[in-house]
Amino acid sequence: MAIKRGTTSKKNTQSLKKTTPSSSNPQQPSTKVESSPKNQQRLVDPTTKDSDDGNAQNIRPHRLQDYIGQETLKSVLKIGIKAALDRKDPLDHLLLYGPPGLGKTTMSLILAEEMGVNCKITAAPALERPRDITGILVNLKPGDVLFIDEIHRLNRLTEELLYPAMEDYRLDITIGKGQASRTRSIPLPKFTLVGATTKVGSLTSPLRDRFGLIERLRFYEPEELALIIERTAKILDVAITQPGAMEIARRSRGTPRIANRLLRRVRDYQVVHKHENINEEVAAQSLDFYQSNPNPLDWTDRMILETMIHNFNGGPVGLESVAASTGEDAKTIEDVYEPYLLQIGFLHRTHRGRMVTEMARKHLLKTDYF
Ligand SMILES: Nc1ncnc2c1ncn2[C@@H]1O[C@H](COP(=O)(O)OP(=O)(O)O)[C@@H](O)[C@H]1O
Ligand SMILES: [Mg+2]
Repeated sequence: MAIKRGTTSKKNTQSLKKTTPSSSNPQQPSTKVESSPKNQQRLVDPTTKDSDDGNAQNIRPHRLQDYIGQETLKSVLKIGIKAALDRKDPLDHLLLYGPPGLGKTTMSLILAEEMGVNCKITAAPALERPRDITGILVNLKPGDVLFIDEIHRLNRLTEELLYPAMEDYRLDITIGKGQASRTRSIPLPKFTLVGATTKVGSLTSPLRDRFGLIERLRFYEPEELALIIERTAKILDVAITQPGAMEIARRSRGTPRIANRLLRRVRDYQVVHKHENINEEVAAQSLDFYQSNPNPLDWTDRMILETMIHNFNGGPVGLESVAASTGEDAKTIEDVYEPYLLQIGFLHRTHRGRMVTEMARKHLLKTDYF
């Protein structure tokens, strides 16, 4: 089952500053929902962005004070922003890393907003040719934020153009070929590069070293997710109780993108079944209907762990073997499922491969999975 990726690569860049949310994307509450493991899997896939989401721009927090959780990250950035504003300088280049759906893009837009500048958004797969990046760089305004998603996927040429741009705000371009070629330097305005990646280990060290700040985003606690859900519910004008929000939060795999998606599904269910509000019971009922299991595991997590136990005696086993025997692609396991399983202590990574932990075995037994 391949995961839809690189949706950003469709458009080369978008300038998101002060765009009014378009009304051309009406909400379509789906009344008929197929409830299958596949459907459920899509619901908890943090990499898929929601197509039925005309409110994405509204739901995204725009200011630091509305960005819930990630307290360490926020306090570091608050100091950075204040210092930069005082110095009248742009912010240091910032690298954000962590699993999908935790708020990297959102944070980059917030930084631009807080600094009072534009944010230019692009992704490494859209920067294939050298002129893709040079075109963006020469059009930046002083202080602008340039956000590059999936920055670990930059090609070598593009990356090398970025080195002097990041370090000295200078673009070195080669004109002509062979012996007649010469290098010209073009000065660039001072800007802030914000890079986002799910794989900080795949970045080359020269690139990594050029970031002044390297910050990790962590999974959210259920209490934090409940606050995010209540905030989104207010924006979408959905009536929800605190226990209702907690019930959704517990099934959101520590990920705001999933929490917001589950809320929309629960809202559909609430509307169709004419419940007055989303309380704990309505939330639980509808999420059971969508087969979104209570914490901590979803269908694919279980399938991966179960396969590892049955076929490999719980490990250690290599990623490729897990992929081959689960039919799930290795990259998806590594980027989407594994970080969460490692986080909750159900999986352990050793130099000989992945291992299912005792805690995971106990949980699977307790929940009567075998
Ligand atoms: N800290 C947060 N507070 C509130 N909402 C958040 C937060 N982080 C993320 N979100 C919501 O989750 C969605 C996914 O976040 P995004 O920044 O696109 O994730 P990433 O870029 O890390 O994949 C956003 O649309 C936003 O509405
Ligand atoms: Mg993103």
